[in-house]
Amino acid sequence: MRIDILTILPRLLDGPFADSILQRAQEKGLCEIRIHNIRDYSTSRQKQVDDYQFGGGAGMVMMIQPIADCIESLQKERAYDEIIYLTPDGERLQQSVCNGLSLKKNLIMICGHYKGIDQRLRDHYVTKEISIGDYVLSGGELAAAVLVDSIIRLIPGVMNDETSALTDSFQDNLLAPPVYTRPAEYNGWKVPDILLSGNTPKVEEWRMEQSIQKTQQRRPDLLDNLDV
Ligand code: ADE
Repeated sequence: MRIDILTILPRLLDGPFADSILQRAQEKGLCEIRIHNIRDYSTSRQKQVDDYQFGGGAGMVMMIQPIADCIESLQKERAYDEIIYLTPDGERLQQSVCNGLSLKKNLIMICGHYKGIDQRLRDHYVTKEISIGDYVLSGGELAAAVLVDSIIRLIPGVMNDETSALTDSFQDNLLAPPVYTRPAEYNGWKVPDILLSGNTPKVEEWRMEQSIQKTQQRRPDLLDNLDV
């Protein structure tokens, strides 16, 4: 998979992809992440990327030309499955969206700032608009990092234990059960006996019960979509 990220603050994205799972995924050749500075595509002498909004009002708008030229230069090289705009008024990100995007080959992500990008970019280039939650960030970069992380870890071969992405919270609309590791007792706090029993079917039954109980308490809305 290849992901091209368009931003006016490329340094914000230096960190998230340089470590751990995302770094290994790139080293193994399972994904390629390219960061593009939108300013490099501006044809104006001052390398302008934003301007006042028509109709008046506070806040700048990211201009169409630099972003359109960047997208078109990328499209000349390869076909893109989705052009995603990270925005608080987009579709709220959930695991099913991540699962779908992890099957794609080439993605573009556009990070907005200020009042956002010129609507014509959204009308003519963007194919998917995603929000990572009902709150407003100062720009789309951190949202893009969240989206990339949630997608890349699902690509086969990226995680060491192939099954572990499947048992995450949300994969089956249930929150994950509690987990424990050694020692079996610490400060008098004991690990539940069932987990030490070696009885795998009973352990699985306990985990399912715990998952359902936790979901009922914390996210009853998820149980509406449950098929068990
Ligand atoms: N840009 C600013 N806030 C955002 C959010 N919540 N999700 C995606 N992009 C954003």
